[in-house]
Amino acid sequence: MRTTHIPVLDAEVIEHLRPVSGGRYVDATLGLGGHAQRILEASAPHGILVGLEWDDQAIEPARRRLAPFGDRVRIIRATYAEMAVVLRREGMMEINALLLDLGVSSLQLDRPERGFSFREDAPLDMRMDRRLPETAADMIARLSQEKLADIFYNYGEERQARRIAAHLVQARESGPIETTGQLAALVGAAIPKKYHPPGKHVATRVFQALRIAVNRELDNLVKVLADAPAVLAPGGRIGVITFHSIEDRIVKQALAGNPAYRVVTRKPVEPSREEIARNPRARSAKLRVAERVA
Ligand SMILES: C[S@@+](CC[C@H](N)C(=O)[O-])C[C@H]1O[C@@H](n2cnc3c(N)ncnc32)[C@H](O)[C@@H]1O
Repeated sequence: MRTTHIPVLDAEVIEHLRPVSGGRYVDATLGLGGHAQRILEASAPHGILVGLEWDDQAIEPARRRLAPFGDRVRIIRATYAEMAVVLRREGMMEINALLLDLGVSSLQLDRPERGFSFREDAPLDMRMDRRLPETAADMIARLSQEKLADIFYNYGEERQARRIAAHLVQARESGPIETTGQLAALVGAAIPKKYHPPGKHVATRVFQALRIAVNRELDNLVKVLADAPAVLAPGGRIGVITFHSIEDRIVKQALAGNPAYRVVTRKPVEPSREEIARNPRARSAKLRVAERVA
């Protein structure tokens, strides 16, 4: 099993967040610590970094990877929606840069039992934090057809949302929909072949939409973007890497619409062709950066 995660747009993150020795940094989506490692290296010997991570399974691998940095790094299991409170408790205010690298890590995708991927048949879970009360399977069992269709449309931009929701609601009458394989097959069967998207799995958008709903990802994102100016030092920078257009729109609007920010990247920074060839996960990544105004 791969337990490394190749950090996306890592050179660009360092270029824009400009870590220096003595600086204070927060990686609010620590994952397996790839970006955190780069930031700690670039801010040696005295930069410090607090890493937030919601998924307990990522904490140990990240701790091992970052152990060489000793007490320059602190790792906390928390959601970034609570970042302001957590950082205040840690005495970590006036930070110089904050990074958010949204989405799933390779560890989450590589562990079938987490239910993020349709590559293998596994329980339909999708919780980033396994203490959350409701899995994707629970949600499919509980929600009305209309609500499911709204989720697929709003969070997956799935044009066949109503058709898929109707098919799932009919199918769940004969028994619960409990695995990734079951869901992927039902979505495939709901959509006429001529509407299957070329080049990607027919259930990709539905999986994305359910993941967003289970983890309330968009609410969490709006919250952290609104809270960040209060923890950034004047001139401090926020960098956000998104992987789909719904998130990117939220980030673009939140940075441009808040007078506490000055947008640094008018257009989002995207990976080079070489990076995409090296790391296909980078394909849809976009980095936006803003600076806290004085
Ligand atoms: C794309 S990965 C980050 C990878 C990391 N930058 C690296 O280089 O290894 C995103 C991480 O954010 C975590 N995450 C998702 N939602 C979160 C939240 N609300 N609060 C904290 N971490 C979250 C996920 O568990 C996942 O490990």
